[in-house]
Amino acid sequence: MNIQWYPGHMTKARRTMQEDIKLIDIVIELVDARAPLSSKNPDIDDLAKNKFRLILLNKVDMADDQYTQAWENYFKDMGFFTARINAKTGAGMKQLTPLIQEVCREKLDRDKKRGILNRPIRAMIVGIPNVGKSTFINSFTKRTVTKVGNRPGVTKGKQWIRLNKSVELLDTPGILWPKFEDQQVGIRLAMIGSIREEILNTGELALRIIDFMKTNYRQLFENRYGIVMQDKAADTLAQLAIARNCKLKGDALDYDKASMLLLEEFRNAKIGRITLERPDL
Ligand code: G4P
Repeated sequence: MNIQWYPGHMTKARRTMQEDIKLIDIVIELVDARAPLSSKNPDIDDLAKNKFRLILLNKVDMADDQYTQAWENYFKDMGFFTARINAKTGAGMKQLTPLIQEVCREKLDRDKKRGILNRPIRAMIVGIPNVGKSTFINSFTKRTVTKVGNRPGVTKGKQWIRLNKSVELLDTPGILWPKFEDQQVGIRLAMIGSIREEILNTGELALRIIDFMKTNYRQLFENRYGIVMQDKAADTLAQLAIARNCKLKGDALDYDKASMLLLEEFRNAKIGRITLERPDL
């Protein structure tokens, strides 16, 4: 399987990010709760050094709860502040303001000592493509009436969204790249739909999903399709094609259609809530 990446975009993204990061106090990093390590940028520790950090596990509605909890513990053990959210519905987002203040406590105390009161914390959303950055920002924009305009001199050309009197969010997220040198990471991101479909072999991806489901979520799969998983993934795919009436002319099985169907249902959590990576593995 050949997964193509676009290193050309990276250089520009990195430069923009380095500029934007100068303006902010806290980096809010979104990762996909279904694959929190694969959806993390490898250079973020370097890019965001000297900044306060918060890691948000997004799309928790599609992830397996027990592992989301395990991932929260994992990041906490590493010394990060973390929380779980659903950017689409806004679930978990109310608690973010107090959390951001807690993360930036040191800055708030410093400001207070210097007699600076009510200077908002400036935040920026970062993450790899498709992790939910725009959804997150839109959700806040809808909730908040105030859009803070340009700040001459300091934030030329940048728009800030005022979340409340203590936090402002940069309205353009920082787009980061995944660990592109790791093929396994690419496959996981393709499975959850973070990488564009057309550059991947759908059939092979479907077989990998079947193998993964057989080992980890066999019951969910069998319940969804009303079939028994076979020893060979290709045989299970054939069963699925029959169960879902994916047929070509002359009654031959349409494996492409069955693969697409499986991929779509897997990515949208129709089979069930699934986490691909576990902190203990
Ligand atoms: P990005 O800016 O980081 O690239 O990601 P974006 O917000 O565009 O989100 C990518 C997809 O993920 C969108 O789906 C969005 O609706 C979905 N999404 C974001 N957060 C969540 C979440 O917490 N839960 C769920 N279930 N989905 C989430 P899409 O297929 O591009 O559009 P649509 O299906 O919403 O129309």
